[in-house]
Amino acid sequence: MIQAIRGLQWLSRLVGACELTLGLVIWFVGVSSVSLHILLGSVMALILLIVGAIALPVKETRSLGAIGILYAFILTGFGMVQMGLLIGPLHWLVQVLHLLIGVGSIAVVHLIGARYLKLKKVSRPAPLESADIPQSTPVAASDEA
Ligand code: HEM
Repeated sequence: MIQAIRGLQWLSRLVGACELTLGLVIWFVGVSSVSLHILLGSVMALILLIVGAIALPVKETRSLGAIGILYAFILTGFGMVQMGLLIGPLHWLVQVLHLLIGVGSIAVVHLIGARYLKLKKVSRPAPLESADIPQSTPVAASDEA
């Protein structure tokens, strides 16, 4: 699970950067890459769902896991309806909100992942004491001997 979380954190960074670039291109250049943007946005929502589902059974990360799952629905829900909201001179408010929710999704994946990884690292058994490990090389004689 630790490897899965690390991989998903890495993937969310990649997908998030592509999403941000595509979104800004849609916004300022007006090039229509909306279908690809929605597809990658769905991948981001899937990452949130998986990370949330991994965190959910662990008591200490349960609420964060639930937030991750809820966030996946907010991300896709708002992404799908935003075009019809506040049509007119105030539509930029909706666009900024969508941008913030989008960037927030990267942060949520990282927050859940960081908490989960910290917890799993702490709960791992401590490494053996050096005294327990047999010495393979003789200890060098001190100068006083
Ligand atoms: C990491 C996640 C995301 C980021 C960073 C992001 C960012 C952006 C930005 C900056 C824009 C241009 C401003 C705007 O029109 O709102 C945009 C447009 C758009 N986004 Fe996203 N977005 C993300 C996820 C999603 C998702 C999950 C969906 C839908 C399921 C979606 C649907 C759309 C649509 C339809 C547009 C075009 C709106 C228009 O033409 O007016 N986005 N996105």
